[in-house]
Amino acid sequence: MGVPKAELHVHIEGTLEPELVFDLARRNGVPAPAASVEELRARYRFTGLRSFLDVYYANMAVLLTEQDFHDLAAAYFARAAEQGVRHAEVFFDPQAHLSRGVSMATVVQGLAAAADEARHLGISAGLILCFLRDEPAASAAEALRLAEPFLDRIVAVGLDSAEAGHPPSGFVDVFATARDMGLHAVAHAGEEGPPEYVREALDLLRVERVDHGVRSLEDPALIARLRDEQVPLTVCPLSNVRLRSVDTISEHPLPRLMDEGLLVTVNSDDPAYFGGYVADNFAAVRSGLGLSDADLRLLAANSFEASFLPEDRKTELI
Ligand code: ADE
Ligand code: ZN
Repeated sequence: MGVPKAELHVHIEGTLEPELVFDLARRNGVPAPAASVEELRARYRFTGLRSFLDVYYANMAVLLTEQDFHDLAAAYFARAAEQGVRHAEVFFDPQAHLSRGVSMATVVQGLAAAADEARHLGISAGLILCFLRDEPAASAAEALRLAEPFLDRIVAVGLDSAEAGHPPSGFVDVFATARDMGLHAVAHAGEEGPPEYVREALDLLRVERVDHGVRSLEDPALIARLRDEQVPLTVCPLSNVRLRSVDTISEHPLPRLMDEGLLVTVNSDDPAYFGGYVADNFAAVRSGLGLSDADLRLLAANSFEASFLPEDRKTELI
């Protein structure tokens, strides 16, 4: 189980295990995306973010009903509890469901019901509505409008999907609207995109955390800023290996980010696809990078510190 921790970077659709893909396809009477679980899993060899996203979006076509979204999230929370997670801020991609005719109510109510039940597992949870950066900003604005009746269930907005060629600057207005609605803001930046996208996320979208951010290391002035402002980075080591940002876990830049004094957290991203949930990521950086117990405790404390929990709850959990 490992040290108690918060998970701040996990896409709920990225927790869709192949077995559940087949169960839901059967339940909903829709075609499964492959002939067998084994055949599906064999496709999980990715050359980069785009090749992963193609499989990720295809698989989620089996998610149709409120019960499906509930069951998906309930399975994640059960795994997360086993992995020592005490608080989770979970991304979801509504535009990827709205475009298939699934309503915002179906998605949010299903996920929120599972989040409520997770309290019995000792986990508190919030939902982060992500905009797809490879879709037009007008589509993001429409998703935010449709989410208005459910704002009490949503803690923040985020920005995800294919990064290269889709800078944060395209989403200034929708992030400003979301912040005016009282939502927190985060964005994927510096995963495959350049350090400039991290700067844009900070300056233009006014994000409070950067998801990934590892390419910030190419820009020493940006690293100094992230340190000075203690901007949290939600780093996902196994994801970076499986999406080929680094060749092996032993070459991952996590120790350099920590040595620079940054507020770094460790997370799973899309654990059904990348070979491990959050405690598996902790175990991988311990064995692959030689991190000490004190390093792991610091990463866990950072995860609560970087969360959107109220200060008194953070102090309780750290
Ligand atoms: N959507 C799901 N996983 C993602 C990732 N690692 N980067 C960007 N968008 C994503
Ligand atoms: Zn991600």
